Amino acid sequence: MSIIFPLAVRPVTVKGRNMLEQLIENVHLITLDPEREGAYGVLENAWVSLHEGKIHSLGQSQAPEAEVTVDGQGQFISPGLVDCHNHLIWGGNRAEEFEWRLQGRSYQEIAQAGGGIASTVKATREASDEVLYQAAAERLQALLEEGVTTVEVKSGYGLSLEHELRVLRIAKQLAKVFPVHISTTLLAAHALPPEFNGESDAYIDLVCQEIIPAAAREGLADCVDVFCEGVGFSPEQCRRVFESAQAHSLPVKGHVEQLSDLGGAKLVAEFNGWSVDHIEYLQAEDVPHLTSSGTVAVLLPGAFYSLKETQMPPIQALREAAVPMAVATDLNPGTSPLASLRLAMNQACVLFGLTPEESLRGVSQYAAQALGLGEQKGILREGFDADLVMWNISHPSELSYGFNLVKPSAILRNGVWV
Ligand code: NIG
Ligand code: FE
Repeated sequence: MSIIFPLAVRPVTVKGRNMLEQLIENVHLITLDPEREGAYGVLENAWVSLHEGKIHSLGQSQAPEAEVTVDGQGQFISPGLVDCHNHLIWGGNRAEEFEWRLQGRSYQEIAQAGGGIASTVKATREASDEVLYQAAAERLQALLEEGVTTVEVKSGYGLSLEHELRVLRIAKQLAKVFPVHISTTLLAAHALPPEFNGESDAYIDLVCQEIIPAAAREGLADCVDVFCEGVGFSPEQCRRVFESAQAHSLPVKGHVEQLSDLGGAKLVAEFNGWSVDHIEYLQAEDVPHLTSSGTVAVLLPGAFYSLKETQMPPIQALREAAVPMAVATDLNPGTSPLASLRLAMNQACVLFGLTPEESLRGVSQYAAQALGLGEQKGILREGFDADLVMWNISHPSELSYGFNLVKPSAILRNGVWV
């Protein structure tokens, strides 16, 4: 029996020499590279070399020389995991609503009675920057410990110019402190703030004319999101938001078809959006719209589970249309209080019938694509970012199989051991 100890290797940077920075040998690489044949694109008994934060090369024979060589002891290495749908920053919690829902009140009912997103907006506005930062940092830490190296962070609990930008600035601050790439998303069109009660078009004017332009000017958002739903905004209102995003050269995505079918996915596809998220109520016949636009379908089994939803996303139609399927936590205080991407992987298999390989690709290859990072992250390939996770497992399916059974034995972000 061999016992694997955590590897005690630290960042190495030797500048000015024509050597590779580091080589990890004696590993099985779960490349997930679509250009490699075989399940998971696995390269057995392989090595990977890293240089200046990128994967320099990888292979099975003739490993190059490097300043530092690490013995991977026969472990597996996967790409760093990517959580492509996450509402990380919020104030308060909604445990009380959890109790109400268990007593039979629906999510929509609670939202209409002033609970739901509105109650988190109130708590978020009242919280100081420090309190929001600290709470988000703890949630982020839980994700990073599981091997997540890229996280999307949405606004959407501020719902005013001041508070939406404040939340995005906190996200940028987290990215400076933690070893993670953060992709920021402006979700000002998440819900109607109380001061606009009965005037949703006027709020959409504010989103389009002030909030989006300011976020774009300050470089605070990588993408613009909407909640296209009866308890959110109509397709017409979401279209206006998308037009404003487009005018500011920002890509779009949407929370669509979560509780009903309003045709939101088609709208996102029309704008060549990065992703359509939730999609339990998406009709199979609307799936082909996503193929032509290259939009990723983001499955959020944590929200499906928490809401005890029974309507299944059209998985088979997505497969048949070769629409890439990502999986994410949807970490939020209402419908998915889930700070575990690994559990979301398991849920995607058990609840939605994904294979463990689809599930792993959903939190790496396709999740990176859903954040516009498909050319840099999510697979192990020369030139891609050296975001790697080492696992003491005997098969990649173990990553989807257990609940908190397997933890990373080492994590590298941009080639640096963290
Ligand atoms: O992704 N669908 C809308 N937004 C969140 C829920 C937010 C909340 O209830 O606080 C979601 O499920
Ligand atoms: Fe969400």
